[in-house]
Amino acid sequence: MRTTANGSTFSCTKPPATKATTTLDKQDSSAARFTIAALAVPVIQAPMAGGPSTPELAAAVSSQGGLGFLAAGYKTASAVKAEIEAARKLTNAPLGVNVFVPQPSVIGAEELEQYALSLAPDGERFGITLGHPRHDDDDWDNKIEVLLEQAPEAVSFTFDLPDRTVITALQQRGVYVIGTVTSRAEAVRALESGVDALCVQGPEAGGHRGTFDPAAQPDDQSLHGLLEELAGLQVPLIAAGGITTGEDTRAALSHGAAAVQAGTAFLRADEAGTKAAHRLALSSGRFSTTSVTRAFSGRNARGLANEFMRRHDGEAPCGYPEIHHLTTPLRAAAAAAGDPEWLNLWAGTGFARTMEGPAASILAALKP
Ligand SMILES: Cc1cc2nc3c(=O)[nH]c(=O)nc-3n(C[C@H](O)[C@H](O)[C@H](O)COP(=O)(O)O)c2cc1C
Repeated sequence: MRTTANGSTFSCTKPPATKATTTLDKQDSSAARFTIAALAVPVIQAPMAGGPSTPELAAAVSSQGGLGFLAAGYKTASAVKAEIEAARKLTNAPLGVNVFVPQPSVIGAEELEQYALSLAPDGERFGITLGHPRHDDDDWDNKIEVLLEQAPEAVSFTFDLPDRTVITALQQRGVYVIGTVTSRAEAVRALESGVDALCVQGPEAGGHRGTFDPAAQPDDQSLHGLLEELAGLQVPLIAAGGITTGEDTRAALSHGAAAVQAGTAFLRADEAGTKAAHRLALSSGRFSTTSVTRAFSGRNARGLANEFMRRHDGEAPCGYPEIHHLTTPLRAAAAAAGDPEWLNLWAGTGFARTMEGPAASILAALKP
């Protein structure tokens, strides 16, 4: 059992990584480890699970002196391995891989049933049956095994931290380990667990908030405020949230960041796997603002404010990944129909300033 920030307790289903640790003990390559200080361009292309992150996008950014990330979330371990191998064929430059740390189940059957009932008319609209709202660990053990075997230069975690043994094992394989944090308390915990750097995610960020306690109200302090609060910590800070221009990058660096991590800025890149409806929604002018909601996945995430959010935000319970699975067929049907009102259009507050084109041009525009 763990105690959450708000004092309640829950059982943490995070599995141990015993198998992995033993594989590596003999292979300490820490002397050659990557560090973000070595990047020619202090810009990281954020991992973006659900389609946008591709080996082509990561390789394009890394080849130009930034750091490209693959997103392991929602994929099987073997698919992650195939993506790493594909990216390696495209570039010799450093590569990052991001993993979702498994979440405890925090939702009951009754709450799930009630939310499913409320979503039923949306399912009927597209002629689909809602998904089975199961809890799972996103193939965690096998993904850690793949990362230990493949040893990408950087691995970042979000939604929590893995056991310290996993962090140490990766570092012994030469991997630079980054923990995503959204508050000072999370930053302190990440440092205690031995990570090499912190990805500091502000409330401006597109996609899921990395908040460790899924039931807690996410910290709403601005990215710059959070960076200043963490500036005294002896660890490189990577600033994430709302960064879409070189000016944004310079501002983050002047607030103590060693590099920035931009997601939304790369959603319209030629190499990104962003769904057509999502791509169009970012530039069409149809959506004027972003909002944070649990309605799509059961976890707080920022996206373009659409009809699904307006209808269900107020009633959406906390329950990731169960609600993610529940809404998967609906989001897929809406994407296939090109209807942007019923799928998650993750985007940060800077979405209106994004551009389309090759990732190299987008990276160039983000240079400080
Ligand atoms: C479409 C999308 C998907 C995302 N998926 C992930 C993910 O898989 N893992 C992760 O750590 N962060 C993810 N994020 C959050 C990013 O890491 C980063 O915090 C965010 O993009 C920064 O804000 P920005 O989008 O305004 O640049 C995602 C963001 C977006 C926009």
